[in-house]
Amino acid sequence: MTSRAERVTKAVIPAAGLGTRFLPATKAIPKEMLPVVDRPAIQYVVEEAVAAGLDDVLMITGRNKRALEDHFDRHWELEQVLEAKGDRFRLDRLRRSTVLADVHYVRQGDPLGLGHAVLCAEKHVGDEAFAVLLGDDLIDARDELLARMLRVRAERGGSVVALLEVAPEQVHLYGCAAVLRTDEDDVVQVTGLVEKPDADQAPSNLAVIGRYVLDPAVFAALRRTSPGRGNEIQLTDALQSLAAGEQAGAGVWGVVFHGRRYDTGDRLDYLKAVVQLGVEHEEFGEDFHVWLREWVAAS
Ligand code: G1P
Repeated sequence: MTSRAERVTKAVIPAAGLGTRFLPATKAIPKEMLPVVDRPAIQYVVEEAVAAGLDDVLMITGRNKRALEDHFDRHWELEQVLEAKGDRFRLDRLRRSTVLADVHYVRQGDPLGLGHAVLCAEKHVGDEAFAVLLGDDLIDARDELLARMLRVRAERGGSVVALLEVAPEQVHLYGCAAVLRTDEDDVVQVTGLVEKPDADQAPSNLAVIGRYVLDPAVFAALRRTSPGRGNEIQLTDALQSLAAGEQAGAGVWGVVFHGRRYDTGDRLDYLKAVVQLGVEHEEFGEDFHVWLREWVAAS
């Protein structure tokens, strides 16, 4: 059981993937930098972490990811130009990504999978619980997920995954959880996890989406984890051992999410995410929505 005084402050964002599904757009820029409406996808993820109180952010990067560091760094020349013009509005937007969080970077030298990426965070995280946010999933800022997961961790200890009910034919795209109910409607006990099972092997239609609150025991579990699906070290496999184990820090809970989630993982989902978030935009969302309705009606 965890101490009630524990405050989780660190978020880890794996961002070392090659982005092959978006080629050629991602030939020279990281996929995390693709704009979703008017911000790079990764900025939404950092904003979500900060909104849940996690302002120490560690990005796991790799080759060709320098643009990420530039995005969260100051841009003096642009700031000076906008200041000279007196353009406060754009200056604030420019500075937002700089002042948002305390962002650190570590490189994942070998592309050995998500579990290996998380293991690269061990030195920075130390012996504390921490969150992992995957950039392909965007969670609507109006819907609570990470904060709820942090409360479940505080109350129950162990690790917490985010679960979403998906259609059975979608299960093979995700980690999938076997669960037991608890006394809270949105919280389940995870008794088993399988990475990307075939539909007929899946223990449920509860898919793991890209938000985790992890006990530091996950690091030892990851070190014991052999390469699994795709010959990669899978975070799902390490969590399976924590779900089944009795060691300190074991135990996995699931928070079943019913809010709005946008998938930016492949081109079609990305387009849907841009449209969905575009119609919500505070400056031009309404105009975009009107145009979209007219365009759909006419086509
Ligand atoms: C990763 C995880 C998987 C999880 C998914 C959520 O897979 O390995 O368990 O369900 O993220 O987006 P990926 O989509 O990176 O292949």
